[in-house]
Amino acid sequence: MDKAQIGVTGLAVMGRNLARNFARHGHTVAVHNRTTAKTTALVEEFGDEGTFVPAETAEGFVAALERPRRLVIMVKAGAATDAVIEEFAPLLEPGDMIVDGGNAHFADTRRREAALRERGIHFVGTGISGGEEGALHGPSIMPGGSAESYETLGPLLEDIAAKVDGVPCATHVGPDGAGHFVKMVHNGIEYADMQLIAEAYDLLRHAAGLTPAEIAEVFRTWNTGRLESYLIEITAEVLAHTDPVTGRPFVDVVLDRAEQKGTGRWTVQTALDLGVPVNGIAEAVFARSVSGHADQRAAARALPGPARRADRGADFADLVEQALYASKIVAYAQGFHEIQAGSAEYGWDIDPGAMARIWRGGCIIRARFLDRITDAYRADPGLATLLTDEHFATALGAAQDAWREVVATAVRLGVPTPGFAGALAYYDSLRAERLPAALTQGQRDFFGAHTYHRADRAGTFHTLWGGDR
Ligand code: NAP
Ligand code: ATR
Repeated sequence: MDKAQIGVTGLAVMGRNLARNFARHGHTVAVHNRTTAKTTALVEEFGDEGTFVPAETAEGFVAALERPRRLVIMVKAGAATDAVIEEFAPLLEPGDMIVDGGNAHFADTRRREAALRERGIHFVGTGISGGEEGALHGPSIMPGGSAESYETLGPLLEDIAAKVDGVPCATHVGPDGAGHFVKMVHNGIEYADMQLIAEAYDLLRHAAGLTPAEIAEVFRTWNTGRLESYLIEITAEVLAHTDPVTGRPFVDVVLDRAEQKGTGRWTVQTALDLGVPVNGIAEAVFARSVSGHADQRAAARALPGPARRADRGADFADLVEQALYASKIVAYAQGFHEIQAGSAEYGWDIDPGAMARIWRGGCIIRARFLDRITDAYRADPGLATLLTDEHFATALGAAQDAWREVVATAVRLGVPTPGFAGALAYYDSLRAERLPAALTQGQRDFFGAHTYHRADRAGTFHTLWGGDR
């Protein structure tokens, strides 16, 4: 039998669909799973989609692969990934490749890559986005690891990736953990995108007084304009859905507690370490946390606030659209700042425009808007912040009055909009001629002799505060 060009081990929803995607593209795929029943089930159910080589043992799996071997691991991130690496690495030879397509933390990927490099094995930490559907029909693929590994692996990944205008949503992101880092930030941006959409909905409901069905129509209209994206599209679907049990809007019967698996939190933790202000993404993570504190929410429910009278007309939707677009630009500017900071810190040389390009299809944040980001970095690869790109600066300038009015309305009516308000505060902070950080630094010098720099001359200064200090 012909050897397999690629192998997939870990045949849960993601691995199974990735293996099928490779097979549907004409590649012979070796398949393996810790529990053999899953391997057998895959071949029984989908064997006619292409050529699968099922293997019951790790040795059989490795023997089925052509050299250099390309082995994709799609198992639970964390200890399971280490266990699987330890099972397979001793069976491999220098030049072989282990592709980890799970949601690993980039620091784990850096550790694993360094250890396997010592043994001559390429470890390719790869962000794969798009969930179960994407894995089967074309995900967005963010591989890290060596450029050498991408030479032979890249064509296979580009084959199965989503395509937009014929361009595959896969590219070599950069060395070692760069791929998983970018996937992490992608998820952080996804959190922000979702939070901003949720706030827009809340305002249309409580400030403009629209019903979920009416708001679904607003989102459908927005999806024909500059906000066109997968998330806006599915928002309209969710809002239009009626609960079959009660006949009420679906959004009114779902418990208002948003859960999280952790990649948004990693994005914020890493941003703190890198000193990158990602308050828009952080607000999204915190908003999910707040929603989960049922006890505190119950205790606080009686606290006073303004009467929630929906006193804005349906035309308020246009202002909300502008606030949403402006806040979205800020969230992406923060995410791309983090990618550039990570790239500088770890020497990855990531092309930010290429990241926007490979997110155009396959993944949750796919959107028309991403073309603008690619264009921005193409026009100026040294762009300090996306906010000052000509297109985005013009859009922000045109939206800022509406943005302020939306935030002011939310504050007046007591509708929480941490995403919109945080993004606006970030925008105003970056624009400010002078920040009150001067006062903060003065306080630090007062209580801790931390010194300060002056705006009008070079050097380090300390003031002898008070008489007896
Ligand atoms: P999963 O539920 O995360 O993992 C289940 C798979 O891991 C099974 O094949 C299981 O084998 C295997 N496994 C667990 N512990 C193992 C161990 N100690 N040794 C060997 N195999 C072990 O599966 P998934 O949802 O398909 O996700 C796979 C990876 O892709 C994860 O890292 C996930 O975070 C990432 N991911 C998921 C999505 C998504 O939408 N679900 C999207 C993108 C990325 P058994 O069958 O023997 O139990
Ligand atoms: P994508 O890149 O397509 O967003 P993802 O990072 O796996 O893929 O996340 C897609 C969605 O599936 C997210 O809602 C994610 O949960 P979080 O919002 O909490 O991050 C969810 N998800 C990811 N891995 C999952 C898993 N193993 N089981 C269940 N849900 C998962």
